[in-house]
Amino acid sequence: MARITLRQLLDHAAEFGYGLPSFNVNNMEQIIAIMRAAAAVDSPVILQVSRGARSYAGDPMVRKMIEAAEEMFPNIPICLHQDHGNSAETCQSALDQGYTSVMMDGSLEADMKSPSSYEYNLDVTSAVGTSAHSIGASVEGELGVLGRLDTGTGEQEDGHGATGVLSHDQLLTDPDQAVDFVSRTQVDALAIAMGTSHGAYKFSRKPDRDVLAMSVVRAVHERLPDLHLVMHGSSSVPQDLQDIFNEFGGQMPQTWGVPIEEIQEGIKYGVRKVNIDTDCRLAMAGAIRKVSVTKRDEFDPRKFMIPAMESMTDLCRLRYEQFGSAGNASRISPLSLTDMAKRYSNGSLDQRVTS
Ligand code: G3H
Ligand code: 13P
Ligand code: ZN
Repeated sequence: MARITLRQLLDHAAEFGYGLPSFNVNNMEQIIAIMRAAAAVDSPVILQVSRGARSYAGDPMVRKMIEAAEEMFPNIPICLHQDHGNSAETCQSALDQGYTSVMMDGSLEADMKSPSSYEYNLDVTSAVGTSAHSIGASVEGELGVLGRLDTGTGEQEDGHGATGVLSHDQLLTDPDQAVDFVSRTQVDALAIAMGTSHGAYKFSRKPDRDVLAMSVVRAVHERLPDLHLVMHGSSSVPQDLQDIFNEFGGQMPQTWGVPIEEIQEGIKYGVRKVNIDTDCRLAMAGAIRKVSVTKRDEFDPRKFMIPAMESMTDLCRLRYEQFGSAGNASRISPLSLTDMAKRYSNGSLDQRVTS
């Protein structure tokens, strides 16, 4: 099946009222796990690749792994998305590699540490939007900085994310500014800041409205009902996966992620793309730990990877079901990039902005 754009996929999700998990991939095992889960429940797929993943696996390897996934799972539409592009150059290099969607994260400067100015974000996101749309690919922007509302800190686990302490003004997307941003950049999807952050340590208790501002989703959706919203940092960090990790020698302090019911509530208010990396990492790491502790003579990497893939497949399948994307792969026929480019140029994909 042809590769699908993020825009077409999210338009379909909006039409039929579901959300899509967007899983980060770095290697063959993660791609197979995601694809097996999708095939089991007939869900379309977004595979997102960070800059870190691109340098870990190398662009040729990523490209070929995606081609292999397409060949092995011909009935599943796949969107290949650049996660957290830090510059126009990064996004262009992804488009050159055949990505059908790019995220230009202009909420931070290119170092991915310093919060940027609004003008910078507008300029860089518009420029990426123009080049992506000219070839029919999609663009996701970000307004507001990801980070914890209780501590004011961005995510540092992976060595990127805002440094220093941020104010609530920086950490919460302003709905009025979102209207201006979307009309001036023509992004296909907008990542909003609402108290979520990357990594395992998002909340130090089950989150309530003081630390997880779901009201931002509703406020942005009210002003931009046709806009596709993206929740980053949306792993749920399930208790059972924390327990397995710790039971087999891990040392993860008790932590809380984004509850599934909050994501499901967000899906009612325009959230269409839900970014998940940490849960997949935890699912695999727990299974690998279990083998290393219970089978101490084992040294065949496949014996570690098979249960790791199974654990991640179970997780992905659950998310497809919980977010409602299950059952939708067979209802979508991907449009070509050329067709999408024509639609952008004749204005039929302009975001309708209401205020
Ligand atoms: O953007 C956050 C994702 O979890 C990707 O992390 O940069 O370590 O691949 P990464
Ligand atoms: P998690 O760390 O919550 O999985 O978030 C991943 C993400 O937002 C990738 O862009
Ligand atoms: Zn993210």
